[in-house]
Amino acid sequence: MKVLVIGAGNMGLAYAKALVKSEFLNKTNLMISDNSLEKTEALKKMSRFDVYTDLSECLPKADIIFIAVKPFHAEALMKELKPMMKEDQLVISIMAGVSIKSIKEGLGIDKIVRAMPNLPAQIGKGLTSFTASKEVSRLELSTVEKLLDTTGKSVHLDTEKDIDASTGISGSGPAYVFYFMQSMMEAAKKMNFSDHNSKILVSQTFEGAVELFNQSDLSPNGWMNRVASKGGTTRAALDSMEDNNVKELIKEAAYAAFNRAVELGK
Ligand SMILES: NC(=O)c1ccc[n+]([C@@H]2O[C@H](COP(=O)([O-])OP(=O)(O)OC[C@H]3O[C@@H](n4cnc5c(N)ncnc54)[C@H](OP(=O)(O)O)[C@@H]3O)[C@@H](O)[C@H]2O)c1
Repeated sequence: MKVLVIGAGNMGLAYAKALVKSEFLNKTNLMISDNSLEKTEALKKMSRFDVYTDLSECLPKADIIFIAVKPFHAEALMKELKPMMKEDQLVISIMAGVSIKSIKEGLGIDKIVRAMPNLPAQIGKGLTSFTASKEVSRLELSTVEKLLDTTGKSVHLDTEKDIDASTGISGSGPAYVFYFMQSMMEAAKKMNFSDHNSKILVSQTFEGAVELFNQSDLSPNGWMNRVASKGGTTRAALDSMEDNNVKELIKEAAYAAFNRAVELGK
């Protein structure tokens, strides 16, 4: 099986590197293409992939085509690809807001997977949600899942609406975590901690809490009850958050991202 990654940017390169590292594919079966000569020259020097600038040289050889260009490049790219596409080729698109229907029409083929990765994919800790057109077989879906899992974990969803919803949780979610971290670091600074110590206090707290959560069956509420005792310091903080409706505001923020994803898809 040969995979072609189109777009050697943040995400395309993250997947290409992860695919080679995981040994899901060997180097000779992974092609990567970008329209920037500067980028492809730099990639050739790394000699980790089979690198192309001309899509007509690599597209016909590919079984799976992974599209990782920005959504505003979608139309021009699909126009270029359409005359060269073969009906048994499978396309995985990570372009935000670009629907399966428009990719089917744009490329004139039916096997389409639409996926939504998130930023930690770049370090192998990503979450990619995906859904597929009905023409993608079970066997192909299992291959797609293995490919996506090379950058972390993946979740197969039923509909594209679910992909928009997952954008509001896992897609945009890393930024919500950074928002929380930033707020805690600002609080630490206000308490006169140095930048260095504020960073350690906050980052290790996040890492430890997530690890505890992952290693148990306890819900976040369960953990909160375990750490907060009546009249104690943690309870004071949690009560302050409840009084200020923080939970509802976070839910609203996630819905704002979900609604924006739906809007962009139109
Ligand atoms: N970054 C994220 O966290 C994230 C999360 C979820 C989904 N996504 C999706 O992932 C996609 C890629 O995002 P990114 O951040 O990796 O973008 P990026 O860094 O801009 O990478 C895209 C690359 O594709 C190249 N390109 C554009 N048109 C091309 C063409 N016709 N043929 C070959 N290469 C072409 C671009 O070259 P030029 O720079 O010369 O234009 C650029 O090198 C986007 O559609 C985005 O919606 C990203």
